[in-house]
Amino acid sequence: MSDTPRFKSLDDLDMEGRRVLLRADLNVPVKDGRLTDTTRITRLVPTLEALRGRGARVVLMSHFGRPKGKVVPEMSLEPLVGPLSEALGGAPVAFAGDCVGPAAAAAVANLGPGEVVLLENLRFHPGEEGNDPDFAAALAALGDLYVNDAFSAAHRAHASVEALARLRPAAAGHLMQAELDHLAQCLDDPRRPLAAVVGGAKVSTKLDLLGNLVQRVDLLVIGGGMANTFLNALGVAVGRSLCEHEMADTARAIVEKARAAGCEIVLPTDARVAGALAPGQEEQVVSIKAVPQDSMILDIGPASAEHLVRRLGDCRTLVWNGPLGCFETPPFDRGTAVVARAAAELTDDGRLLSVAGGGDTVAALAQAGVLERFSYVSTAGGAFLEWLEGKTLPGVAALEAG
Ligand code: 3PG
Ligand code: MG
Repeated sequence: MSDTPRFKSLDDLDMEGRRVLLRADLNVPVKDGRLTDTTRITRLVPTLEALRGRGARVVLMSHFGRPKGKVVPEMSLEPLVGPLSEALGGAPVAFAGDCVGPAAAAAVANLGPGEVVLLENLRFHPGEEGNDPDFAAALAALGDLYVNDAFSAAHRAHASVEALARLRPAAAGHLMQAELDHLAQCLDDPRRPLAAVVGGAKVSTKLDLLGNLVQRVDLLVIGGGMANTFLNALGVAVGRSLCEHEMADTARAIVEKARAAGCEIVLPTDARVAGALAPGQEEQVVSIKAVPQDSMILDIGPASAEHLVRRLGDCRTLVWNGPLGCFETPPFDRGTAVVARAAAELTDDGRLLSVAGGGDTVAALAQAGVLERFSYVSTAGGAFLEWLEGKTLPGVAALEAG
């Protein structure tokens, strides 16, 4: 976990009339050419409005998708001009067909104070992912100051995130600051007891996360497919459930590490099982000690959910990453929904600080109807995970150096 960040905020930059390079994360979900969720745009608005209000000329930059250093027309950022303008109350947003070079320079030269230009997808150039100094210099030529509001891309040591931050006076935007503040409240200096809920399919993708969390949290709730790997490692028969049998030793080592650190691991005591993961399957609730050989664990059972609700009642801080069951296929969303609603209620009552993050997590909490009731929901997926793993995020480190 990094210490309290020491970097400049927007208040530290004098931006009147200056060109401000604003790194945002406009890597938004799109289906059939339409934006399906505007959260990342909405959450960027406070910084955009602050820059405009102070008379900055705003040069907005982002990646979109993974075009791998080539121009891929379907990955253009141009379709976001409309939604951005709408989010700014109808203020015009210009567009530059390239993020560096003459097209970008001309578009930036046209900007008046308080105006915004969106540059084309940074990842159309290989220099972005390569953290190439020449590419960073070409970006730097377009601005006087640098603001990073892309916490969700801060785990990427890419040119617009890392090298560029070192070439201009740099500050964190409001969203970057909010993300870091809330994560710090969870893990750096939390009110205790502190609980973590970690779900998702595989232990192997969350090893570093679990290893760090057992040393920091008082209660570690493990759900989802990962729980099966732990149960199996502890001698429980999990039938045909998703389970990483080869991770048994690793799982036992994590249990041991938790014990040594005084962290209590909570695993399901009952489960909702079915023969296959599909809607309309015959399902049943069984004790975790009686999972039929031919069935799969697809959610935590009601007794486990009840137990978690009770335990959360004693906690003061909660960090949540990953669903507890196969929430996309009802009724296997129930466990997640019950526990999420309880967390929302405790948050409403002012008894719990609840912070959640990660793509699936946000979708699962939204489905449970509690997204707005959590204290804070991160816009980040990978970056949220890496922070919970205790890793230094290159984008944050570069701001600290600036
Ligand atoms: C995200 O959506 O998690 C960020 O924008 C990072 O995208 P990437 O995983 O393609 O680097
Ligand atoms: Mg990602």
